[in-house]
Amino acid sequence: MTTTPALPGLSIVRHPLVQHKLTILRDKSTPKKIFKELVDEIAMLMAYEATSDLALEPVPVDTPLERMTGQRVSGKKLTLVPILRAGLGMVEGILKLVPSARVGHIGLYRDHATLEPVDYYFKIPADAGERDFLLLDPMLATGGSAVAAINSLKKAGAVRIRFLCLVASPLGVARVHDAHPDVPILCAALDRELNERGYILPGLGDAGDRLFGTR
Ligand code: PRP
Ligand code: URA
Repeated sequence: MTTTPALPGLSIVRHPLVQHKLTILRDKSTPKKIFKELVDEIAMLMAYEATSDLALEPVPVDTPLERMTGQRVSGKKLTLVPILRAGLGMVEGILKLVPSARVGHIGLYRDHATLEPVDYYFKIPADAGERDFLLLDPMLATGGSAVAAINSLKKAGAVRIRFLCLVASPLGVARVHDAHPDVPILCAALDRELNERGYILPGLGDAGDRLFGTR
């Protein structure tokens, strides 16, 4: 993982497998089925990095030969929170890595004219203050959706939140960090800019439409 001094709070996962898969994901000729599988796989690889500092506690275990002290992740179950719709594409891959994780949902869509987020659903597990949250969305463009989602999570009591996205824009990263400097951002790529319709360039297009085949 690397950081960018100009964009505090951001880490970029530069693992060769992540970068290879991301390139196929960007390709406009990649079919929906492969697109979905790649989002899943990249999310899993990114979650591996994002969870590298989860707290552990000692636990006794009986091997076939003797008793020893092993380690297990301590505390309440990790909670994944996809931002609907496109964030849903990241959930299954991470659940392969952390099958016991809980899953909350935040429903938000970006108004096409104003680019402002409109929220329509919110459900996360109880005891939010005691959980580690991974907020998931493939795209961080203007940052409006991520900022609104983090606002909602914090209002519900969440304090330990990380934001995982695949492609980020410099503006989106800066907006999230300005509003929520305590929330680390992990991405697979930091792209150049947004176009006049708020799409990331070079980007990968509309993640929700490519995942669900709605265009
Ligand atoms: C996309 C994307 C993010 C948001 C990013 O979702 O999945 O949630 O846009 O843009 P922002 O950083 O400018 O807020 P969209 O609103 O298109 O909804 P969808 O996932 O239902 O397609
Ligand atoms: N949402 C997307 O799905 N893609 C973008 O490039 C920007 C917002």
